[in-house]
Amino acid sequence: MPLDNRLSACAEMVSGRGTVVDVGTDHGYLPVFLVSHGICRRAVAADINQGPLQSAKEHISSAGLDGAIQTVLSDGLDGISRDDVSDVVIAGMGGELIAEIIERCGWLHDGVNLILQPMTKIAQLRSRLWEMGFEILREKACFEGFFYTVILAKYTGKKREYSLLDTYIGKMDNKTAEEKGFLKRQSDKLLIKGRGMLNGDPDSADGKLFAELSSRLESYANGGEV
Ligand SMILES: C[S@@+](CC[C@H](N)C(=O)[O-])C[C@H]1O[C@@H](n2cnc3c(N)ncnc32)[C@H](O)[C@@H]1O
Repeated sequence: MPLDNRLSACAEMVSGRGTVVDVGTDHGYLPVFLVSHGICRRAVAADINQGPLQSAKEHISSAGLDGAIQTVLSDGLDGISRDDVSDVVIAGMGGELIAEIIERCGWLHDGVNLILQPMTKIAQLRSRLWEMGFEILREKACFEGFFYTVILAKYTGKKREYSLLDTYIGKMDNKTAEEKGFLKRQSDKLLIKGRGMLNGDPDSADGKLFAELSSRLESYANGGEV
């Protein structure tokens, strides 16, 4: 079965050098796609809930991949060992939960590719990654009913300095329709937030800050410099 654009964008970032762990796998679509297309040889489909894991097991069995994809009941990466894991995908969860899962897993510091697709709190996830010593290597925007970003990150141990605007851009380029659409959507959200604050208090410093950020993000979305 083909993947949708959001999970395809995740699959594109997988190195497949070793085992791929899909945290919060739900139906197991991503690991089944990766193994059946030869992107990786082995995968772990992990989920905190028994229901999704059962659904993943059925999908894996019907694809004849029981020998290549292990299913694990686990909160984040808590129940999963390093072994030969090359890539960890965490998609379809909130940015705060993704950051917590990363923070709890020490072996992610050991050269593992992190492929992250946050549904919310994207700016906060970027800043947490930088504070934890991860570098954002690449981002890819995609559209599947909504605009999404997929972030590729790796641990370097260096905590970079960043501005608030950096947290809203990350490594997002401003060339493709998806990139522009994603940035414009972020800019619109900031404008709504800023206007709401300024409606309550025309002197609100945060309201002015969000309106200014929104306008800089919009100008970047339209092809301008950061
Ligand atoms: C919205 S689905 C996303 C499924 C798939 N990753 C995707 O992007 O289409 C979220 C999945 O994450 C699982 N989940 C939520 N919190 C989790 C955690 N702390 N550890 C592992 N899985 C979790 C849920 O049970 C659910 O199956």
